[in-house]
Amino acid sequence: MAVNDYIRANQDKFLNELLDLLRIPSVSADPKFKNDVISAAKFVADAMEKAGADLVEICETPGYPIVYGEKIIDPSLPTVLVYGHYDVQPADPYELWDSPPFEPVIKNTKIHPEGAIFARGSADDKGQFYMHIKAFEAMMAENELVCNVKFMIEGEEEVGSDNLEKFVVENKERLKSDVILISDTHMISMQNPSITVGLRGMAYMEVEVIGANRDLHSGTYGGAVANPINILCQMISSMLDENNHVTIPGFYDKVQALTEEQRKRLNAAPFDLNEYKEKLDIADVHGEKGYTTIERVGIRPTLDVNGIWGGYIGEGAKTVLPSKANAKISMRLVPDQDWHEIATLFEDYFKSVAPKSVKVKVKSHHGGSPAVVSDSSVGYRAAEAAMEETFGKRPIPTREGGSIPIVALFQKELATDPILFGFGLDTDALHSPNEHYGVKNYFIGIETIAAFFKKFRDLSQS
Ligand code: BES
Ligand code: MN
Ligand code: MN
Repeated sequence: MAVNDYIRANQDKFLNELLDLLRIPSVSADPKFKNDVISAAKFVADAMEKAGADLVEICETPGYPIVYGEKIIDPSLPTVLVYGHYDVQPADPYELWDSPPFEPVIKNTKIHPEGAIFARGSADDKGQFYMHIKAFEAMMAENELVCNVKFMIEGEEEVGSDNLEKFVVENKERLKSDVILISDTHMISMQNPSITVGLRGMAYMEVEVIGANRDLHSGTYGGAVANPINILCQMISSMLDENNHVTIPGFYDKVQALTEEQRKRLNAAPFDLNEYKEKLDIADVHGEKGYTTIERVGIRPTLDVNGIWGGYIGEGAKTVLPSKANAKISMRLVPDQDWHEIATLFEDYFKSVAPKSVKVKVKSHHGGSPAVVSDSSVGYRAAEAAMEETFGKRPIPTREGGSIPIVALFQKELATDPILFGFGLDTDALHSPNEHYGVKNYFIGIETIAAFFKKFRDLSQS
């Protein structure tokens, strides 16, 4: 394929452009980076234009803009819509990075012997959505674009995509497509390619437990007045029982049970528990009784504290009963749990288990619906064939534990099942220090995307 020749001839250029994009600290969560997030949007718009897209537009929203661009070569051909996000997670804690998060470097690792790009956003999601722009550039340059293409790259994914729903609803015509591609997930490994067909949803809560109207001497008052940190810990531990079941009444009511056959197929995926433990340096795994690790992540809901604070945490010791304690708690959800409903169940339960000695406040942050997509659609089959061509092995469908709220939104508003065409690995350290993305993953991703266009055109017309 001439496209592959173009990709191979332009490796340095493709890589250097990605490194430039990674130098922009587009952290959507922290207002300090506002100008950087906006320059990342401009970078993306510029890259789309240079690759050959028409009608490139930086669409303003009340938050960060959505970058749109398209190339309609022939309305009778199928249309591919690409979604991705140019915003990244905060890089904190900076001191745990081996190299600065926004100064990308390429280093070899055991898993990536041909090099990996270390930078915040390298795998999530700049390195992944940028593959689509480069595949498009190659197809345009070689006159081999065989489907129409539309790009929609947003800047608020890591903070809950608050403004995306309205944009999708208001731009249904503009976003009309035959298939949606999202590269923002993992594969099992380079040797075991896979396509994600399920993602968990999420309800993200913040709680505050309030005791006395001021911090108190822990000798004068300790044992007589509620300590909000003690109470908060008790309340949190009461939300999981000894089998790691969530105890919130009604929590599991809408959870879809899989058939034995479905579970068997899920567990047939290559997975080595010892290797898993070794890579994480843990003596044992931990989770809901009766389920395997693959199931715990893929098809079961869960509840986790993401942060907890209160009281004195400075040097030395201070004897104090704090007046307040706080925690951020997320629940990962599976079909057919509704995140608004779960947020309400959580709030009711949390308030019900609070002793009279404290007041509690519960706030619901963002959330998102779980999603399962078809593993037999034309788009899935084209993705499967494209991966088989570039990896030399047929990918298997998997379910992942992360969340991409737009997936369910696309299903609802555009009636299209996105293809979760991710090329990252779960060891790439997403959201962690030393996030990285394999150089090989980047280039094989670009080639696979180009192959997808041909397969999708062929399968759509047959
Ligand atoms: N790309 C991730 C989601 C993901 C990661 C899916 C790994 C599958 C495997 C995405 O950017 C993300 O981090 N999503 C957030 C949710 C969002 C609403 C903040 C998440 O999963 O925590
Ligand atoms: Mn992502
Ligand atoms: Mn992310």
